[in-house]
Amino acid sequence: MYIDTHAHILDEVYGTPEAVIARLGEEGIDRIVNVGYDLPSSVGTAALCERHSCVYGLVGIHPEHADTVSSEALCRLASLATKKGVIGIGEIGLDYHYTPFDKEQQKQAFLQQLELAYSLKKPFCIHLRDAAGDMNELLTKNRELLRYGGVMHCYAQSAELVPFYLKLGLYISFTGAVTFKNARGLLDAVRAVPADRLLTETDCPYLTPEPYRGKTNFPFYVKYVAKRLAELKEMPEEAFCAQVKENARALFHVEF
Ligand code: NI
Repeated sequence: MYIDTHAHILDEVYGTPEAVIARLGEEGIDRIVNVGYDLPSSVGTAALCERHSCVYGLVGIHPEHADTVSSEALCRLASLATKKGVIGIGEIGLDYHYTPFDKEQQKQAFLQQLELAYSLKKPFCIHLRDAAGDMNELLTKNRELLRYGGVMHCYAQSAELVPFYLKLGLYISFTGAVTFKNARGLLDAVRAVPADRLLTETDCPYLTPEPYRGKTNFPFYVKYVAKRLAELKEMPEEAFCAQVKENARALFHVEF
């Protein structure tokens, strides 16, 4: 009944991704979306989708690896994006958290990959950290490129900014951070998103929800994210999960 729309199960912490996939069914997880963050992990994601029908994939280059976005890399991504089970471009975006970073290089890498998503008529997944000003300006200036939809993943912006992203037609996805004790501002953001624009994710192996905070995260723990979000949206959990599934289908154009 649950779906994890943003996981990184190729991470070495899991040994093999198959060890995680083998447990999905028994844990009540229907589908997961595995997300690439550089070229090797994007190649790995496409291979994973080929082998497992319960895994969809996104291919893309994370802003931390913006220096690797070349025309060859974009060609590779374009070809990976047509493979079985690959449903969009991601994760792409801006991240000014860890220094040093090159703002212009990140902006260019992000735009080039947004253009790629647009040219392929595929949705995209945005990673945004400590760079909302530049991101919002880029999105506003390039509205046409958002035509095939996208998601603000691991939402960590204010509730005040939610209407801006909604107006751009974007979905908003929350992680286990909504279960943390100090999540107050984030909970206001959840309340500001209509149920038909919400997605659930783990971003595993990071951001492990309560009651497992501090341990390795797994796609199964998306149930704790869903439970908390359903509570906040004052919806029965089952109805909430059905809505999320419908949202994911509407964005990615595949059955979840
Ligand atoms: Ni991620």
